[in-house]
Amino acid sequence: MTEMQAPPPYFNIDPDRALAELDAPATTARFAEIAAACTRGREDLASRGLNPEGRKELRLFSTWEITKYLIPVAVAHFRRVLKQNPHLPQGRAETEGGAKWFTFEEVLLLRAHFAGAGSKAKEYRPYRPAGLPAKCVAVANFKGGVGKTSTAAHLAMSAALDGYRVLVVDLDSQGSMTSIFAGRVADEWQTVFPLLARHYAGHLQAENRARMARGDDPLALDETLSEALEVKAQDLIQRTHWPNIDLIGAQLNLYWSEFQIPVWRMQGRSWKLWDALSDMLEADGVLDEYDIVFLDTPPALGYLTINGLAAADILLVPLGASFLEFDSTGRFFDMLHSTFASIEQGENMAARALGQRGLSFEWDAVRAIVTRYDRGQQAELAALMQAYLGTTLSPHRQDFTALIGQAGEQVNGIYEADYRDFNRETYARGRETFDETYAAFKRLLLGIWRREELAQARAAG
Ligand SMILES: Nc1ncnc2c1ncn2[C@@H]1O[C@H](COP(=O)(O)OP(=O)(O)OP(=O)(O)O)[C@@H](O)[C@H]1O
Ligand SMILES: [Mg+2]
Repeated sequence: MTEMQAPPPYFNIDPDRALAELDAPATTARFAEIAAACTRGREDLASRGLNPEGRKELRLFSTWEITKYLIPVAVAHFRRVLKQNPHLPQGRAETEGGAKWFTFEEVLLLRAHFAGAGSKAKEYRPYRPAGLPAKCVAVANFKGGVGKTSTAAHLAMSAALDGYRVLVVDLDSQGSMTSIFAGRVADEWQTVFPLLARHYAGHLQAENRARMARGDDPLALDETLSEALEVKAQDLIQRTHWPNIDLIGAQLNLYWSEFQIPVWRMQGRSWKLWDALSDMLEADGVLDEYDIVFLDTPPALGYLTINGLAAADILLVPLGASFLEFDSTGRFFDMLHSTFASIEQGENMAARALGQRGLSFEWDAVRAIVTRYDRGQQAELAALMQAYLGTTLSPHRQDFTALIGQAGEQVNGIYEADYRDFNRETYARGRETFDETYAAFKRLLLGIWRREELAQARAAG
């Protein structure tokens, strides 16, 4: 006789017992209680792995890692140069005669030394044409959880390790990027919100000059707009635990922009709301202070994302190699087309009426990137996507790796993890896939900068 199988778990549920387990109906106040519990838990988590002042600290880098991944010199030569130059950082050993470890500030100093004194044939500093502005890179997809923030954060960290000066701008009110870089954002006044408001305030001021010239009454600037006129991008930029990564953070209140922007636009019909972020970053000289600006966007095509996309020179669209993600990413591109085409159309109608040149958006490059790739399960679908998307799909697929997401609050990615905490094989494979993601991005970036450099040289005769 076969044993009786247990019935499935949803059979034989007794309504009275179910009632006994039930708590009272929730009122609005319940949300506040849950939120407060989350805040306490989050603070507890965040405080583990933070130093006593509550700041995140970047780990140290070993001689092995520096000479393998960061500065192209042989270990023996590296040691010799340090010995010959006692003023250079010498690192610290955890045990007598053990491996030497350096802070990332020290790595940057060492790199500068090698770049100044070392072989000219070697690339100690990454290519960056002089006189050209920073490149803005937006990472976007209206599908959630596809790896936007992970991709943007890892690219920012790899670019920083490579020696670039990086600014990260969090346009997502979920603030994940802000947590990764341990940003502190009290309210919307420490996000990009005041820059958007200042752009609109500037528009209103110009409008008012025209109104007054016509003899009309000026429109009043409310308190928010007057206050925003005093805010510069530099007031919003915070340092992070990475010496060469700065941040403009986000928190929940940033979401208010999604309601405020359309209200402003109703009042100022000719306000170019999509240009707000890029105009303000440019006006404040931000693009001269950094090499690369990464914009992390929310999983929606709202006004913040539109601003991020319009500010971008390079657009990266992460997606998983699954039917659902491929399908919704296709619809995302469709939405991008209709959104930007309708902005162009609206503008060009007005421009034609005034006999002016029309508006045409342009991006240096647009690339889709396969993320969380499982070569055992997804090779066929990825190949199909490659066949249809051609060069728009970056040929490098970013593998799914256990190194991401499982580490706690302190470590948010491969580059922040101490390799001794992992199995060597797992570490090497995880690191390799993100190094390759960066390499594919860097190839794109350098090609674009070079194109501009050559165009500039041609223009100069
Ligand atoms: N290469 C990877 N390997 C393993 N896990 C990954 C990888 N990339 C991302 N993840 C995980 O996938 C989840 C979603 O990633 P992420 O937060 O970067 O997506 P997102 O597109 O920014 O999400 P949202 O739309 O909510 O902003 C996270 O738990 C992250 O840790
Ligand atoms: Mg995200």
